[in-house]
Amino acid sequence: MNKLNIVILAAGKGTRMHSDTPKVLHKIGAKPILAHVIDCAKKLDASRIIVVYGYGGAEVRAAINDEKVIWVNQEHQNGTGHAVQQAIAHLEADAKTLILLGDVPLVDADACKKLVDLAATQMAILSFHKTDPTGYGRILRDPSGSVTAIVEHKDASVEQRAIAEVNTGIMALPNVHLIPWLAQLNNDNAQGEFYLTDIVKIAAQQGVAVVAEITDDEWSVTGINSKQDLAKIERIYQTRIAQKLLEQGVTLKDSARIDVRGTLKCGRDVEIDVNCVFEGDVSLGDNVKIASNCVIKNAHIAAGTLIAAFTHIEDVQIGEDCHIGPYARLRPGTVLAAQAHVGNFVELKNSQVDKGSKINHLSYVGDTTVGKNVNIGAGTITCNYDGVNKYRTIIEDDVFIGSDTQLVAPITIGQGATIAAGSTITRDAPANQLTFCRAKEQKSIAAWKRPSKLTK
Ligand code: UD1
Ligand code: CA
Repeated sequence: MNKLNIVILAAGKGTRMHSDTPKVLHKIGAKPILAHVIDCAKKLDASRIIVVYGYGGAEVRAAINDEKVIWVNQEHQNGTGHAVQQAIAHLEADAKTLILLGDVPLVDADACKKLVDLAATQMAILSFHKTDPTGYGRILRDPSGSVTAIVEHKDASVEQRAIAEVNTGIMALPNVHLIPWLAQLNNDNAQGEFYLTDIVKIAAQQGVAVVAEITDDEWSVTGINSKQDLAKIERIYQTRIAQKLLEQGVTLKDSARIDVRGTLKCGRDVEIDVNCVFEGDVSLGDNVKIASNCVIKNAHIAAGTLIAAFTHIEDVQIGEDCHIGPYARLRPGTVLAAQAHVGNFVELKNSQVDKGSKINHLSYVGDTTVGKNVNIGAGTITCNYDGVNKYRTIIEDDVFIGSDTQLVAPITIGQGATIAAGSTITRDAPANQLTFCRAKEQKSIAAWKRPSKLTK
């Protein structure tokens, strides 16, 4: 009996989030809480993953458009047992089922695997010790230590409420037991709900052993019910990513001041200063250094490159040994070859910059192809947009663009050309020549006086 079904309970509303967004769509590390749980489930080699959804159903389905899971609608949220009942049609008779909660994003695949292994013929539940167990189901054991039942907080006696061992909600058992036991549940309790936890008592009564695996990783079983929980778990999640980066040899100036909202791959001897945010897929080559306060999204940055402070990068590829920033903005479609320099207050968009070229100060370069060893002076602007259409600018190898120049696209600046400072260039500039376009004369008015302040 190796087959595994996984049922993820995700129908609850999450009233305490005080939000119009269904609880399971709130994000940890920029990924919906429920998507974290589904990712865990996918590590477990299950033949079926069934998500029971309900509140905000259409929104949940649209946000997590996952064809690999079976979606089951629980129209009325009549309890966790009722939720699993909705999935019965999809449970395989010869499989076992693992129950996961859709609001527990840090759920640990190894702990789940252990639980599943324990549930060959018996039932296995995951429990933990809570200093303040208020609200949780308590694990009842007989004098020999065997688990006999779970009693929900609202149904528990004063003595039972003193029990610190609580139910995580995560459990595993063979379907030959689960399916008939689900049919025996009733809602005769304080909340008028069909409690999944009541199957523990049924198991004990029928002589099926129930083992409780106690975890000491509380965060991996903590559900999110409020914005406080969301903020707390986000920090734990980020702390764990930071610890992994440190283990891999990445230098973090402050492991509490980095946020990874996606995946961050790092080579050897990478250094990351404080307050950097990495989003989507980011990879950093060997010896890359990221200074403080950078936001980097979907980017590959090759070995030896230095990103100075306050730089924003999105959908960009950067070659080896480049120097970017401070205060640079690299927008989607930008590709920099090795040894490119992009300095302060430079915006690049959908532009390719070849080896060794420099755009060091106060420029906008959009829809542009820049050749090798080009120097683009301060205050250069590619005028790529006529209000309706976008046009490309081609700047060939070894070009020198003087400061405060406008290049009105479409336009090509030929190889080795020099453009004089202060020019507005509207036609192609020939290779190897000086091209300028300024006001005709420079005048000086000898008799001119600065205005003086008017007296009343
Ligand atoms: C449940 C357990 C409790 C355990 C606690 C751990 C039961 C009866 N109680 O209590 O023993 O200590 O979790 O957090 O199982 N859900 C549905 N449909 C429903 C009701 C709930 O899908 O009709 C989902 C929720 O979205 C949530 C999960 O099931 O993801 C747990 O539901 P919740 O209401 O949080 O259960 P608790 O009362 O906290
Ligand atoms: Ca809960």
